[in-house]
Amino acid sequence: MAMIRENLVPCTTGKVRPHQTQNEALVFEKSSPGKRAYKLPPLDVPAIDAAALLGAAHRTTPGELPELSEIEIIRHFTRLSTWNYAIDLGMYPLGSCTMKYNPRVNEAVARIEGLAEAHPYRPDSLAQGILEVIDLLQRCLLEITGMDAITLQPAAGAHGEFTGILLVRAWHESRGNARRKVLIPDSAHGTNPATAAICGYTVENLKSNAEGGIDLEALTRQVDEETAALMLTNPSTIGVFESQIHKIADILHAKGALLYMDGANMNALVGKARPGDFGVDVMHLNLHKTFSTPHGGGGPGSGPVACKAFLEPFLPIPVLVRNAEPLPAQTLGAPSFPRSSAERMGDGDPQPVGAPDPDSGTWDGSKTQLTWSYDRPQSIGRVRAFYGNVGMFIRALAYILANGPDGLRQTTEDAVLNANYIRSKLEDLYELPYKTASMHEVVFSDKRQAARGVKTGEIAKRLIDYGFHPYTVSFPMIVHGALMIEPTESESLEELDLFIAAMRSIAREVDETPELVKSAPHSTRVSKLDEVQAARKPILRWRPA
Ligand SMILES: Cc1ncc(COP(=O)(O)O)c(C=O)c1O
Repeated sequence: MAMIRENLVPCTTGKVRPHQTQNEALVFEKSSPGKRAYKLPPLDVPAIDAAALLGAAHRTTPGELPELSEIEIIRHFTRLSTWNYAIDLGMYPLGSCTMKYNPRVNEAVARIEGLAEAHPYRPDSLAQGILEVIDLLQRCLLEITGMDAITLQPAAGAHGEFTGILLVRAWHESRGNARRKVLIPDSAHGTNPATAAICGYTVENLKSNAEGGIDLEALTRQVDEETAALMLTNPSTIGVFESQIHKIADILHAKGALLYMDGANMNALVGKARPGDFGVDVMHLNLHKTFSTPHGGGGPGSGPVACKAFLEPFLPIPVLVRNAEPLPAQTLGAPSFPRSSAERMGDGDPQPVGAPDPDSGTWDGSKTQLTWSYDRPQSIGRVRAFYGNVGMFIRALAYILANGPDGLRQTTEDAVLNANYIRSKLEDLYELPYKTASMHEVVFSDKRQAARGVKTGEIAKRLIDYGFHPYTVSFPMIVHGALMIEPTESESLEELDLFIAAMRSIAREVDETPELVKSAPHSTRVSKLDEVQAARKPILRWRPA
């Protein structure tokens, strides 16, 4: 068995190895009666009669929970965690998802007690520190995008699109006609048409030209007085920058339509080009892609929406405003966070910024500098509870400040360089359908390998045996059999070379031993899954036999 495995599983130095254990029983199967992970001291208060207290809600039979010792539980979950692939283990080239490394310093900052524990119900006067964090992030993002106003409320990219298109709709409505349709190129992210439809618009498809960009003549024909907006993913899902974007903006504006930019791929533009300067009216960002907050696993995201001044009155409430009259100098001083050691010890309530009024002894809330404004008659309303995923704001701001303007520009350049390095090292073996210069990601097709009976999904599965997370498979739709690879700037030359070596080796295997690729992965606990069965009939719950 070991020998067979040797042949099936390539030996690449430094790469992620197969799991620690291949045979981990379920926690229920490991259970044996009476085992405990804890022990309570003898009762030192009078016992109560739970049945009398709870009445009908009292349960007479205990729930079927596994019984294990602490070390068994720790080992079980630690071993399970080794079955996961993670950016902390190796390269995660999942195109379109920008699985970049989240620097540890971001986590450290987000865990600062005063920031992590800031409660959304805390009055503005007691929350000036966290409000300054939010305000500074807003100003940084406006500087980066070249836009005029912003909301951080949306919880993800698609939610940002929804918010942005609602702004478009509200603006058109304020002029008497919401209009009927939204134009979307075939190279857009899949969430774009869904967004337009959910905002009540008819989606009209725009065909890309041979370079993967917008055909200006077709656009001119399709834009009319019923067009509310064009939603443009830029750079597009094939990693191509829309170099005619200023002309596109002019064509739309001439008919009173707006240009929405899906800015989730801003990691290819930050520090180099600003959407506000090339005609974009409204856009969203994915903090969980571009600004390195953790991505994936269903964790919180953040999709801020930035817009031009004329859309600002429609932004969701509340909007953060800085009082025209600044606080007197002596009350500004220390930020409200982190809290004093006395507060941390539970000795007294948290204190507001600065000192209370010496005469009345009370805090004058009207002098608070940053406040949430709800007085916005044209607002589209709230799109989320409270103010958005604040923990993501802190991580993004830490990342922006740690890099600084030059660092952010370098990051963009490195992301583009890494994608183009992979492109140049693989284009002799994998088909490149669009020859236009790549930005942050490169999209090949499986045309040559498919001619030998091996598809993109099978190549991706074989990549697992080489210790890499698969690239994005079969997306974007305009590339048949797509291999969408986004290395991000996080990867070193050594890691990129290992990935390239793996992809070249797989291309060779497709020629010499195609069955080896088609039956991959060989190194995982379970081999090739029936994907349809797994998606349609997942077994997610343990039930007693
Ligand atoms: C270009 C683009 N637009 C929109 C989205 C949607 O973002 P989210 O998954 O946060 O909703 C993504 C997600 O990766 C994206 O890549």
